[in-house]
Amino acid sequence: MSAMTAPLVDPMAMRQAMGRFATGVAVITTEEDGRPHGMTVNSLTSVSLEPPLLLVCFNHGARTAEAAVSSGRFVVNILSKRQQAIALRFAARGEDHFAGLDLDYAGHRVPVVPQALAHLECDVERVVEAGDHTIVLGAVLGATMREGEPLGFYGGKFSDIQQHGHEPEHWFF
Ligand SMILES: Cc1cc2nc3c(=O)[nH]c(=O)nc-3n(C[C@H](O)[C@H](O)[C@H](O)COP(=O)(O)O)c2cc1C
Repeated sequence: MSAMTAPLVDPMAMRQAMGRFATGVAVITTEEDGRPHGMTVNSLTSVSLEPPLLLVCFNHGARTAEAAVSSGRFVVNILSKRQQAIALRFAARGEDHFAGLDLDYAGHRVPVVPQALAHLECDVERVVEAGDHTIVLGAVLGATMREGEPLGFYGGKFSDIQQHGHEPEHWFF
């Protein structure tokens, strides 16, 4: 590293600044050796349409990430604004997130979150280590959707994401 290298940002400042980037909220579900796992994330990003790829960034040690990588499959469950309790349940550290829940596969290979706004079933395409996170790229095998309003996350809090009522724009990029 050269003496001219600029100092890195303070991690809390980065977290607070990135907290200004509003996101939705999803639960990643998977199953390993017959045991279901799931965790709440907001680091979900669409990467490519041809081929269809998405990515999720997992904190090192996240049990769901380890199970997804070892089983090679996972489902992205995009939460509706009625599912804040689900988001909290699947974010509780050290808990069995599926405890007391009936498993619902809804035609997928791993259990899903019922009533989610969208289910995207993925095969693990690639795993990239990046700092204190593991980036998991998923090849999207199928996607189903339902109508509803999304759960948002902004400034470290759950929020509503409002629609402005104009016609959908068809962006090409
Ligand atoms: C809104 C929200 C977003 C989150 N996003 C992520 C994320 O993108 N990546 C991550 O590793 N943990 C994220 N977490 C924390 C995990 O949900 C939490 O650490 C979880 O308990 C880990 O799952 P595990 O018990 O399977 O290890 C988020 C939590 C919340 C409430």
